[in-house]
Amino acid sequence: MHRLGFIGFGGMAAGYHYETSKRSDIPDLEPAAVYDVDPQRREFAKSKGLAVYDSLQDFLDSRAFDIVLVATPNNYHRPMVEAALGAGYNVMVEKPAAITSADFRAMMDAADRSGKLFTVHQNRRWDRDFLIAKAAIEEGDVGAPYMIESRIHGTGGTMTGWRGMADHGGGMLLDWGVHMLDQVLWLIKEPVDTVYAVVRSIKTDEVDDYAKVIITFESGLVAQVEVATFTLAPLPRLAVYGDKGGFMIEGGSPARVTKATDMHWENYDAPAYGDDYPGGMQSRTLRRCVYGTEKFDAPAPEKLPPQDWASLYKNVLAALDGKEELVVKPVEVLRVIKVIEAAFESSRTNKAVKFVN
Ligand SMILES: NC(=O)c1ccc[n+]([C@@H]2O[C@H](COP(=O)([O-])OP(=O)(O)OC[C@H]3O[C@@H](n4cnc5c(N)ncnc54)[C@H](O)[C@@H]3O)[C@@H](O)[C@H]2O)c1
Repeated sequence: MHRLGFIGFGGMAAGYHYETSKRSDIPDLEPAAVYDVDPQRREFAKSKGLAVYDSLQDFLDSRAFDIVLVATPNNYHRPMVEAALGAGYNVMVEKPAAITSADFRAMMDAADRSGKLFTVHQNRRWDRDFLIAKAAIEEGDVGAPYMIESRIHGTGGTMTGWRGMADHGGGMLLDWGVHMLDQVLWLIKEPVDTVYAVVRSIKTDEVDDYAKVIITFESGLVAQVEVATFTLAPLPRLAVYGDKGGFMIEGGSPARVTKATDMHWENYDAPAYGDDYPGGMQSRTLRRCVYGTEKFDAPAPEKLPPQDWASLYKNVLAALDGKEELVVKPVEVLRVIKVIEAAFESSRTNKAVKFVN
């Protein structure tokens, strides 16, 4: 049996992690204890029957759990993770795991020193729309992807609470961009070549609430991630173009694939321009890619993946028991944070940043 201790028992910890730790299909995990700076949140945790501590040291000294979940505002992640790993606990931290790559490297070093499991709650790797896109690509109907667009077009207007504060690690790129970038970088395993970004504050004073990040990969594949809080005419969540077809995804519906059929070249040996160019006949002699199209939904309805974020918990428990490899690896998270840093740099300098993988 594994027992979960919470540092920070706010919206995400109490609303999602606590409930997940009680799920009947995760029988070897139970919620145990809470440390939160807010007395009201501590009272709330007590009402759930959890052991509650009003100091971090007492919480860590209690040994009432073996896994610590850190779910505080982002600026507290590093000190909490380092303290929990230093005290010999396995640790899962909420996203964005850190505000800078230097902070995250320090957290990885603390994990190495402790020899304990360290991972990040990148739960959106199990989002249904993303898994549909992944499956549709893997089924091969679009061929080799050359362009991926992933976006969260929100209508909330602004970043609020601590998410609107720079010193708390607020801003839309850190809050939602980290999920979208983690998905793309997990899907596309090749090295990143360049990062170009526009990061803006449209309605929020202190932090960004709009970001467009364009990543080119070594093969030339380009991915665009866009996150926004004031997009009153939202564009589709995901779009993928490959060398055999393309698709779009809205919500949790299957990918509507348009696939090229009977694709072949006409006049493959024709010169690039007809001899009579720029006269009227050249188009008949030019090389052309011709094809028909068919449209279908992918994956097939019976194969649509469920959205089950708890898969991450199941994997962490299996990894602790030596049965599975950890899915969310710190080294992958580091790459995402480095891309976010590169995006901020690119926006500041208005130049594409050559990425060091
Ligand atoms: N993975 C996801 O889908 C997802 C969704 C929402 C939030 N999050 C992440 O979870 C974390 C928490 O977000 P939230 O929405 O629950 O915020 P929240 O404000 O609702 O909760 C934060 C909690 O931390 C407590 N806290 C603040 N400073 C503390 C400190 N120094 N020590 C101990 N406790 C402290 C607060 O009292 C509060 O109870 C953030 O990192 C956020 O990005 C992730």
